Amino acid sequence: MLRFCTAGESHGEALISVISGVPAGVEIDQEFVNRELWRRQQGYGRGGRMRIERDTAHFISGVRHGKTIGSPISLRIENRDWKNWEEALPVNAGDPAKHKRVASPRPGHADLAGALKYNLPEARYVLERASARESAARVAIGAVAKLLLRTIEVEVLSHVIAVGKAAFDGAPEWAQMRALLQKEDVLLSCIDPEVEQRMKAEVDQALRTGDSVGGIFEVIGHHVPPGLGTYANWDERLDAQLAAAVMSLQAVKAVEIGRGVHAAVSFGSQVHDAIGYSPEQNDKNGDEHFTRFTRAQNNAGGIEGGISNGEDVVVRGYLKPISTLRRPLESVDFATREPVKAAYERSDVCVVPAAGVAGEAMVALTLARCALEKFGADSVMELERNYKSYCKQIAEY
Ligand SMILES: Cc1cc2nc3c(=O)[nH]c(=O)nc-3n(C[C@H](O)[C@H](O)[C@H](O)COP(=O)(O)O)c2cc1C
Repeated sequence: MLRFCTAGESHGEALISVISGVPAGVEIDQEFVNRELWRRQQGYGRGGRMRIERDTAHFISGVRHGKTIGSPISLRIENRDWKNWEEALPVNAGDPAKHKRVASPRPGHADLAGALKYNLPEARYVLERASARESAARVAIGAVAKLLLRTIEVEVLSHVIAVGKAAFDGAPEWAQMRALLQKEDVLLSCIDPEVEQRMKAEVDQALRTGDSVGGIFEVIGHHVPPGLGTYANWDERLDAQLAAAVMSLQAVKAVEIGRGVHAAVSFGSQVHDAIGYSPEQNDKNGDEHFTRFTRAQNNAGGIEGGISNGEDVVVRGYLKPISTLRRPLESVDFATREPVKAAYERSDVCVVPAAGVAGEAMVALTLARCALEKFGADSVMELERNYKSYCKQIAEY
């Protein structure tokens, strides 16, 4: 079974990821892993922290001679900012006078709920782990999952469909998604340059007014075979697993599969994806499909009955605006209980493209887990063989 966990605090020495259940023989392209980490650091509206960090994954175990060996994979991402925090956040007792308190909880952040839960006098240790710095650790192992998924020709990418009120309404071609991946200036990861400029204006407004802005990212799993996940048990449904995986990302407050939100206010005849049959397995572009059954469109987001149906898997994450505000909201001082402004600490203003990259990682990890459950394999060769034999079975159906 594919399992993973992460450890590490925002201003601690390093982030750690452990993933187990990856079959032997997956080629680990470290340049690719680090490029994924770089992608998470990009986007218009990021704060000063991302100018300090140069996220790089140092593999510790589970990989030898460039390939996985079937044992748990562990890796470490250094926090370059640690050198500025070593005295404020030492592992040993250190000098309490050098501690950096977070004196008043930020509405929307984990500060107050975390301090109450862990019985802490203020929110420093709360934000250290609640911070989305943790998502870098997930992106690194998400990259491992993507490399594994290459064996069965699945790709996972994201784009931004809304920042504040500026929204893109359309279905991207896969080639457009790939082109986005090549961009060195990520800006807001929108495939439409005109909409992207309007998105930028939303961020500019937030920057000008000391505010923050949220948005929506869309993750697409391309060439996902039919048959991942099942309706047989509630926790095995692919849609449920994807929703939990994406919802687990910091600041994501809603998840949509396909056009789920639109479907809820439409008639059935307007949203369900009519089924056809073609004697050819290749479409007019020459692309080979898994089966000869065809769909008029993909409003279901590639999942019906908790099972992938062979269309692209489409998952949207809805991000609330960042809760650290340069013009802070009302709060209460932890020590005096007097009304004060909420604490401010160097912060991002918009993180939708970065959250999209973290969303890709969570979708890739979920698809990889479901694929391994379906095709059960301890080596890449076994996975490939099982996958190909299943593809033959459904092509002949
Ligand atoms: C990529 C990314 C970067 C983030 N950066 C910040 C930040 O700089 N400041 C901040 O207050 N929140 C930031 N957040 C959001 C907080 O981590 C999140 O709101 C907080 O942990 C509380 O969790 P919740 O919003 O899921 O309830 C970021 C989220 C993501 C996905």
